[in-house]
Amino acid sequence: MRILVVGSGGREHALCWKIAASPLCDELFCAPGNAGIAAEAECVPISVDDTAGLVAFARDKAIDFVVVGPEAPLVAGLADALEAAGIATFGPSARAAELEGSKGFMKDIAAKYNVPTAAYRRFREPTPAKAFAATLGLPVVIKADGLAAGKGVIIAHSRAEADAAIDAMMTDRQFGEAGAELVVEEFLKGEELSFFALCDGTHAIPLASAQDHKQVGDGDTGPNTGGMGAYSPAPVATPEVARRIMDEIVFPTVNGMTAEGRPFKGVLFAGIMVTETGPKLIEFNVRFGDPECEVLMLRLKSDLVPALMAARDGALKNFDLRWYDDAAVSVVMAAKGYPGKPETGTVIGGLDAAGAIKDVAVFHAGTKRSERGEIVATGGRVLAVSATGRDVAAAQALAYKAVDAIDWPGGFCRRDIGWRAIGRR
Ligand code: AMP
Ligand code: GLY
Repeated sequence: MRILVVGSGGREHALCWKIAASPLCDELFCAPGNAGIAAEAECVPISVDDTAGLVAFARDKAIDFVVVGPEAPLVAGLADALEAAGIATFGPSARAAELEGSKGFMKDIAAKYNVPTAAYRRFREPTPAKAFAATLGLPVVIKADGLAAGKGVIIAHSRAEADAAIDAMMTDRQFGEAGAELVVEEFLKGEELSFFALCDGTHAIPLASAQDHKQVGDGDTGPNTGGMGAYSPAPVATPEVARRIMDEIVFPTVNGMTAEGRPFKGVLFAGIMVTETGPKLIEFNVRFGDPECEVLMLRLKSDLVPALMAARDGALKNFDLRWYDDAAVSVVMAAKGYPGKPETGTVIGGLDAAGAIKDVAVFHAGTKRSERGEIVATGGRVLAVSATGRDVAAAQALAYKAVDAIDWPGGFCRRDIGWRAIGRR
């Protein structure tokens, strides 16, 4: 098969690494890719939002299967355009991707199909939004309806903060048109979990559990990021919690989306809060998490390609995925300044030494090769330094050994990825 992966982050590097290892894959392309992905796939300089360019490339190269990594092109209809051109694609249609593209839509689906989630209301005007927020107690959660690159959620700890967030999103359009509509919702207390299920429109199968570390600083302090590290398995996902998530959240959503005429095919990523009364849905994403994908790919024993094809083909019934017992940890190294404006162009050394350590994989998230042949940082999150081990503690120790082999004064990372799992033992 000739396979094209769309995207350029650590998630897409991990997907390319796993797909390249499949006996089904003869030729692998990635658009646009990065300096690390170039070791697994032929990188082609087409941006993820260039739908026409991607369709033309896929046609031209007779691509058999496309795997779309990020949410923005899915919400914009890339999977629809590729399928309309006769190219089999892993990833939901634009109408199904609205589960991530509109937080209000997601909440309405949850309400209609009895999926447990925070109490909420949708607003198009600031004054009623502020009045409703005042009824919910503190903290209260303010969300821009549309895509805001993971930044459109504010947890307000005072009424003044809630009012300011509503004004910033709706009146000042801090996140552009994403803030034309808001969701105001109740704050959920508990431990967060990233839960993934492969879906084919009718059936759904759970993937291994994972937990992300959203905040930039050790001990979960500082501003939110796209994710500073992940580990799998996550002990908070007991078999009972996983069963309840499938029965109470994933299956009702998959069935509901079909009933709405928007069958969901792809990977459904449920952000879960495990509360005192059980798992509740925080939000849906319609793609793999990053860096959760990195740890999942390291733990997946089965061939990924048939699983993704079965999801696309509606053939997941009786499909079985096998996982290694080993745990995996992924530590994100980010450019100084992130999650604010990151310093780019700094040179990263020691990557070969780190990657040569047994059971280590250094996935690139934001790198390019300079004219002088050096690997340089191009964005906020730059590397996902990942390792496996017999448990989370062993995988963590090995991941930090690899981090310490990397010579990058322009970068930083958290030193406590996996602490909840390690502390629990
Ligand atoms: P999102 O961008 O929707 O992933 O939200 C970012 C983060 O905000 C989530 O990972 C949670 O930590 C937090 N969050 C969002 N909604 C809620 C809620 N209703 N209660 C508590 N935390 C929330
Ligand atoms: N790591 C969380 C996300 O991918 O949205």
